[in-house]
Amino acid sequence: MRSKLVAGNWKMHGSRAAISDLLAALKAELPSEPRVDIAVFPSAVYLADTRSLLSGSPVAIGAQNVCEKPGEGAYTGEVSAQMLADIGCRYVIVGHSERRAMYGESSELVASKVKCVLDAGLLPILCVGESEADRDAGRTLEVVAEQIQAVFDLLPVSELASLIVAYEPVWAIGTGKTATPAQAQEVHAFIRGLVAERSTELAAGIRILYGGSVKAANAAELFSQADIDGGLVGGASLNAQEFSAICRAAE
Ligand code: PGA
Repeated sequence: MRSKLVAGNWKMHGSRAAISDLLAALKAELPSEPRVDIAVFPSAVYLADTRSLLSGSPVAIGAQNVCEKPGEGAYTGEVSAQMLADIGCRYVIVGHSERRAMYGESSELVASKVKCVLDAGLLPILCVGESEADRDAGRTLEVVAEQIQAVFDLLPVSELASLIVAYEPVWAIGTGKTATPAQAQEVHAFIRGLVAERSTELAAGIRILYGGSVKAANAAELFSQADIDGGLVGGASLNAQEFSAICRAAE
């Protein structure tokens, strides 16, 4: 059975004071032994603080981005997957649509990041999803397949056991417009089918999260779909009550 995962992507929000308040509230709201995996993704500069504030808590930490180069080197401003592992990260979000759209990340570059994250022993959350124009043009499945294919082109199935995929329709991110459970399920089942073409074992185990305006009010219905294994939550993860309610919905 796949364990559900609820991941809170804080994006470029927060301060030491705000994060300390948010985590105190979250710790008070969440059960001490949740029946789902939970992780928060602060800005890289607050990862270490977040980790200490969460010590003794079941909530894991992850990074929002990573350098596509392995090892160390002259890459000013970058953070390596090994560094993230060194400070106690468990997950790394790669290929978020904001990075693809605003920082020009191609599917090939995103695949290199997935490889670095896996090589460092961390769990990549590979974000895929279509724009509104893609959906209107009937290209949703094609776009998602292309984004996933880049990872299959670089990495053998035998190395993908820790891969997590997040389906995030771009038109649903931060807009309040959630995909309907049926729309999301269709794409999740398609993604699992793509993986099954390579390995039925991997397909049965891989976790596929939904992201895009997930909130307490819609989480339970989304998470009850057969191929939705949790959520990647943006805006609602900055509110302890909302986020913990989403975690409870996943249970
Ligand atoms: P949202 O963001 O929940 O605010 O729509 C989701 C995401 O970008 O991962």
